Amino acid sequence: MKRTKYTIANWKMNGLNNSIKLVKSIENHIKKTKHSKSKIIICPPFTLLSNFTKIEKKISFGGQDCHYLNNGAFTGSISASMLKSIGCKYVIIGHSERRQYQNELSKELKLKIKSALASNLKVIYCIGEKFSEIKRRNKVLASQINSLPTNFKFKSIIIAYEPVWAIGTGKVPSLNQINNIHSKIRLLLAKKIGHNNSNKISILYGGSVNAQNASEILNLSQVDGVLVGGASLKVPDFSKIIDSYK
Ligand code: PGA
Repeated sequence: MKRTKYTIANWKMNGLNNSIKLVKSIENHIKKTKHSKSKIIICPPFTLLSNFTKIEKKISFGGQDCHYLNNGAFTGSISASMLKSIGCKYVIIGHSERRQYQNELSKELKLKIKSALASNLKVIYCIGEKFSEIKRRNKVLASQINSLPTNFKFKSIIIAYEPVWAIGTGKVPSLNQINNIHSKIRLLLAKKIGHNNSNKISILYGGSVNAQNASEILNLSQVDGVLVGGASLKVPDFSKIIDSYK
């Protein structure tokens, strides 16, 4: 089945000083090369989002998190409907840095996913094992996938497989491992939502993707795109990644 390919930039808490330049340069690159083999999505910090969503056409934007309620007394939080109201189409949920530093657990993530879908945002749902969990990876991934609802528009969910030990470390699983793990993730999805529906979901790889390794990762049969952190902040590198689809 032909699935949508995605190249997603996760700026994390970066980009304040040169954000407009970054976005403009990436847009110019897309215009110049006419590459449209993947959807390009940028997820900058919340405060930068409204600068972009108004002006850009070739790139879509997303938040890096959302609260599970629409409004209320939750100091420091942003809701899915707020993201939607400024023109976001996507939101990252369950990134390992939030699981780790904000203690986000599956119960809360489940609610966040529901809230995002209810606000018509597409969810980029991150899953992945820690280094200490490699031996029981399948169980970890199965329990993370369990946070997904069973009843949703299947094209509204994108899975990003990001081994926690690969994020920002320069370490990447072997190509064989990536392909096998992605196949296993699809099997876990099939168990939950059925074979046909599981085939509609794009599964991306994330964790130390860079201009050098993107092409071999993107050419794997089970990889439908990449979620890029560090390398998404450098225009030449991110442009090369965008160009890496065959
Ligand atoms: P990285 O981050 O590309 O810098 O490893 C990826 C991510 O955390 O999404």
